[in-house]
Amino acid sequence: MSGGAGRDAPRARVVLVAGLARDGTIGKDGGIPWRYPEDMRAFRAATTGTVLLMGRRTLDSIGRLLPGRETVVLSRDPEGVRARWPGAHAAASLDEALALAARLAAALPGEPVVSVLGGGEVYALALPRADELLLTYVPEAGGGDVAFPAWDPREFEEVARETLERVERVRYRRRASAGHSSL
Ligand SMILES: NC(=O)c1ccc[n+]([C@@H]2O[C@H](COP(=O)([O-])OP(=O)(O)OC[C@H]3O[C@@H](n4cnc5c(N)ncnc54)[C@H](OP(=O)(O)O)[C@@H]3O)[C@@H](O)[C@H]2O)c1
Repeated sequence: MSGGAGRDAPRARVVLVAGLARDGTIGKDGGIPWRYPEDMRAFRAATTGTVLLMGRRTLDSIGRLLPGRETVVLSRDPEGVRARWPGAHAAASLDEALALAARLAAALPGEPVVSVLGGGEVYALALPRADELLLTYVPEAGGGDVAFPAWDPREFEEVARETLERVERVRYRRRASAGHSSL
């Protein structure tokens, strides 16, 4: 635990943002084997004004901090992350990372939102804490080596769907009756 991030942290809406191939895989060989400008524009719009939370391997694969947004990186070596990525925040547990991200989000205008950007390990860890899933379905068959975690469609309801040229973008919200473990 570093920095006391877990204490008095405000609550933020937690949104898992991911792109999925038809077989549910999200990456291969440390990268994402597709690129859709229409999805990237929507991604930028959806994550602007939010705080980003991602795993160390995902940040390595992106290769830069995304501009205009604070980034919290989950790593068992947060000092190493901060040394390698000046300007990044880092935390050694999901609880600490979420608390830190929520605190950063509370300082921004509007409703505080934390966008969880993966990868597979971090999505799986954060799924029980997710208020929303914002999933882009791409037309690729898949065959990747990292997948989005299995989730129960009874726990989330679809609240928005849009087709952006070649991809389908769907927002799911956790049903109030489904219980919630993010407090
Ligand atoms: N399609 C999409 O939307 C999408 C989005 C994001 C990523 N991806 C893809 O997903 C792949 C990367 O995913 P991944 O699952 O390999 O890695 P990841 O989730 O990005 O990062 C894993 C790292 O997070 C840290 N970590 C994980 N659990 C932890 C815990 N309990 N406590 C502390 N730190 C923890 C560790 O960092 P340390 O090793 O530093 O300790 C671990 O190596 C890439 O192919 C990437 O391109 C796809």
